[in-house]
Amino acid sequence: MATVDLFAPPHSPAERAARLRAELDAHAHRYYVLDQPTIPDIEYDRLFRELQDIETAHPELLTADSPTQRVGGKPLDQFASVRHRVPMLSIRTETDTEPTGARNFDTRVRKELTLAASDPPVEYVGELKFDGLAMSLRYENGVLVQAATRGDGEVGEDVTQNIRTIKQIPLRLPAGFPFLVEVRGEVYLSRADFEALNEKQREKIAQGAKGEKTFVNPRNAAAGGVRQLDPAIAAERRLSFFAYGLGEITPPADGGPKFETHFQLLMTLKSWGFPVAVQTTRLQGATELIAFHQAMGEQRDRLPYDIDGVVYKVNSLALQQKMGFVTREPRWAVAHKYPAQEQLTMVLGIDVQVGRTGKLTPVAKLAPVFVGGVTVTNATLHNEDEARRKDVRVGDTVIVRRAGDVIPEVVSVLLDKRQPDAQIFTMPRHCPVCGSDAVREDGEADYRCTGGLFCAAQRKEAILHFAHRRAVEIEGLGDKLVEQLVEANVIRTLPDLYKLGLSSLASLDRMAEKSAKNLLEALERSRQTTLPRFVFGLGIRHVGEATAKALAHHFGKLDAVMDATEAQLLEVNDVGPIVAQSIRTFFEQSHNREVVEQLRACGVTWEEGEPAVVAFRPLSGKTFVITGTLPNLSRDGAKDQIEAAGGKVAGSVSKKTDYVVAGAEAGSKLVKAQALGIAVIDESALLALLDLPSG
Ligand code: IVH
Repeated sequence: MATVDLFAPPHSPAERAARLRAELDAHAHRYYVLDQPTIPDIEYDRLFRELQDIETAHPELLTADSPTQRVGGKPLDQFASVRHRVPMLSIRTETDTEPTGARNFDTRVRKELTLAASDPPVEYVGELKFDGLAMSLRYENGVLVQAATRGDGEVGEDVTQNIRTIKQIPLRLPAGFPFLVEVRGEVYLSRADFEALNEKQREKIAQGAKGEKTFVNPRNAAAGGVRQLDPAIAAERRLSFFAYGLGEITPPADGGPKFETHFQLLMTLKSWGFPVAVQTTRLQGATELIAFHQAMGEQRDRLPYDIDGVVYKVNSLALQQKMGFVTREPRWAVAHKYPAQEQLTMVLGIDVQVGRTGKLTPVAKLAPVFVGGVTVTNATLHNEDEARRKDVRVGDTVIVRRAGDVIPEVVSVLLDKRQPDAQIFTMPRHCPVCGSDAVREDGEADYRCTGGLFCAAQRKEAILHFAHRRAVEIEGLGDKLVEQLVEANVIRTLPDLYKLGLSSLASLDRMAEKSAKNLLEALERSRQTTLPRFVFGLGIRHVGEATAKALAHHFGKLDAVMDATEAQLLEVNDVGPIVAQSIRTFFEQSHNREVVEQLRACGVTWEEGEPAVVAFRPLSGKTFVITGTLPNLSRDGAKDQIEAAGGKVAGSVSKKTDYVVAGAEAGSKLVKAQALGIAVIDESALLALLDLPSG
């Protein structure tokens, strides 16, 4: 790269263009390689446009290595063949994913070099094995002139136009470059860019675009991008690059860079502006190879791109030369793999499982597949929205991923393998275990079974909750015991608790007669309870202890709670629409009512009271906004009165506002209320609503 003084005033368009190119290259390197941009995107765009304008006005100033020329070429009919002067080799793969894989390599290297056990450890370089495709970048006189795929190692394809669109790849090298050099490395797609690409593809497919498809993994998407005949499409793929070696090299007349080790070579590539993975490390002997394999394995899931292993290379170039090759593989390098984290399999069915809390989870049943080190037969689809987003159907071929200890997941569906009659999955509206309604509340992702006490899937939780110290309190009825009782099918519903006898208890494991007697006594004591404890014990979703107390106090009698309308429930202190809805849903299930009746029949009793005298709350459920100055009431005064009458006062006008109370000099809130067609009232109308005399 010619040295240019960025701060000197421009003299001629040629000088300005050269300065802009240098500046844009430096910014692109900071942005794409170092991940440390120093100017905002908009400033980069401005400089870029300035250069474009100069080049349009003075076409003779245009150079092949100008950053404006990354996407310049026309679509091709086909790729030209490129013969590699230095063949592109592959690496021997160690498929033993255990530490022995690393040890075997070190043993082979030492044998090859006829080292004795007493000789010092061999120095290696540990690199990541990127999951993309190999590329050879040819620079002549420091300018990128050709990019070629590996092909069969001897002959690849000329994909220069597409590779020029990769902003991490320098179009020219800085001063000190060799006369000719081939930089070799891996073109890949980051996980984020892969997700974004597939998201775009899904949108296109949804809009009916023909011939579009989603990609199976980042490597396939990268390979497809590299082999696009139209460079404009390749540019959209946002490909990335890591350098890991050299091909042909001819030093300049004055000597040029000298390397004795592979590590020096990589650091030189880095200084020329190529991305070299920061994990690249010098390692001594087998012990450090093993530690590197292990450490990268732990980092693997957190990397922004896929790797399928690590690569070990003998560091000394002299030793590499000494060792040479077997067929197409160097003896001085090996790829040490990790277990594959993704596999293809078939969806045999979609089950809906009911969790302890009634949550319904769709689960894909899979043809057994070995992935991430275990055999997987189930993969969660999480919830309705996720299942719909992924659109997994029975009979589909899917990619299953199991990374680390994370539960297996369906990554995506291979749409081209879908059977034409495959049915869209819909969440059931009834609990698959007990048949109760399954409901999804506003703002929630999950469907829940409303069966509560009645649902076998929720039975244990329901019983433990009922027996809780702060509910009806059944001393000694703990986790283990409930589990046994439910598993042995001795208890199916709450009322069964009160049908327990000495004989059924004594038949349980580890149940001494003394404990059985104690439990029966505790059950006996629990029959006499209180209404708040009983209501809390029913385990209605969103009804905690405080709400149970408020309900009991407000209604006095259980039947009144059970029959209350939503509006009546809303009158209870601190009961909002979500809680009211949940109580209604619970008591609308006839089996929940039956459970209550049976408990009563079993002798569970409490004292009932009279409904609390509720203050007159004419404004309950109504929302007000106050604007301007009212003639008599202060803002706070009006607010207190509205709230005392059960209304709410909000700060801003929305569709949910029922009334806007406007006084003198009312401002934008009044305008908005009128725009939304919300009732606007004055102070006297408010007092009328409150049923207070005005004036
Ligand atoms: S070195 C002389 N280093 O793995 C050895 N290859 O068969 C030449 N790969 O096609 C390759 N990461 O595309 C090397 N750090 C790395 C690599 C790497 C990924 C790919 C490469 C090649 C294949 C090996």
